Amino acid sequence: MKINLDGRVSNIKAVWYEEPVIKMIDQRILPDAFKVVDIKNTKELFDGIRNMTVRGAPSIGAAAAYGIAQAKALGMDLEEAGKIIKSARPTANDLFFAVDFVLEHKEDAKKYAEIYVDSIVERSRLIGVNGNELIGKNKKILTHCNAGALASVDYGTALSPIRMASESGKDPFVWVDETRPRLQGAKLTAWELVQEGIRHKVIADNAAGFLMERGEVDLAIVGADRITENGDFANKIGTYEKAVLAKENGVSFYVAAPLSTFDFDIKNGRGIPIEVRGEDEVKEVKGVQISPKESMAYNPAFDVTPNRYVTGYITEYGIFKSSDLHKLKGKGKESTIEQIGSVQKGI
Ligand code: MRU
Repeated sequence: MKINLDGRVSNIKAVWYEEPVIKMIDQRILPDAFKVVDIKNTKELFDGIRNMTVRGAPSIGAAAAYGIAQAKALGMDLEEAGKIIKSARPTANDLFFAVDFVLEHKEDAKKYAEIYVDSIVERSRLIGVNGNELIGKNKKILTHCNAGALASVDYGTALSPIRMASESGKDPFVWVDETRPRLQGAKLTAWELVQEGIRHKVIADNAAGFLMERGEVDLAIVGADRITENGDFANKIGTYEKAVLAKENGVSFYVAAPLSTFDFDIKNGRGIPIEVRGEDEVKEVKGVQISPKESMAYNPAFDVTPNRYVTGYITEYGIFKSSDLHKLKGKGKESTIEQIGSVQKGI
């Protein structure tokens, strides 16, 4: 992703590896400050995923893939390291997919971690190429949470088609849901769009229905943390209500995700484990308490949107309806960019 630091434009990924250190952009402090954090061992990686220094399903997967390479470089038991890394967060399928992918090639863990992360970048780019076809000139697109380059090493999932539309001169406009409680939209998506010079406005989470009803949203694109066999999917809390509002108002609603996010072992959304996070995330904003300290809070981090609300799934292999997702079964493990390309043509 292109970023502007002190007047200098650089190209940077959300996560990368300089053996034996995993480097990640600290997503907790953007847009106030830009900092890269060094992760030196499995315990630090567990903490970095859990406290959301790195977040967003494909970026979590990338960090986890490097985690196995790092554990090997440090002489750890790789199965044990995999168990610790997988226990950091429960919902994003990419975490489990990435650990298993590198463990399958443990004799060459560093090489396969790099292959995995390069393939995530290429898959994200292809999501952009495929999704760009849905976006006409000057369209207004709603997105929820951050499914941009920060969340997907580079390009993004939901933001990748928007980036491509912007690069191809279509001048898209983005409604950015602020995304309480952690404000990934207001902080991270808005920051990425500023870096890319893409027109946008941040809106309060409860403004989307009003805008849809007034005809101010042409389409919605969101990311996903886990998509089940029937197309139900988990994404940041608040996604479900946006999908229902979209259907009610005749707005097309797309989900963008690479195959690492698909879990064909789960039949429908009821089977997705949903992370519940701390009460403070709801009761505080930037460390300042906003609710009475006596009040309790409840903080489910994800919700599940049933497949009937989804117009299409934008993947690296093309755009699918829920009834066609079975064609993707068994894919997602191709380890070279050439293989992804040939599979894409084959569907
Ligand atoms: O809790 P987070 O910030 O990790 O949740 C992230 C999301 O819900 C994203 O929309 C999802 O991971 C898709 S990221 C490309």
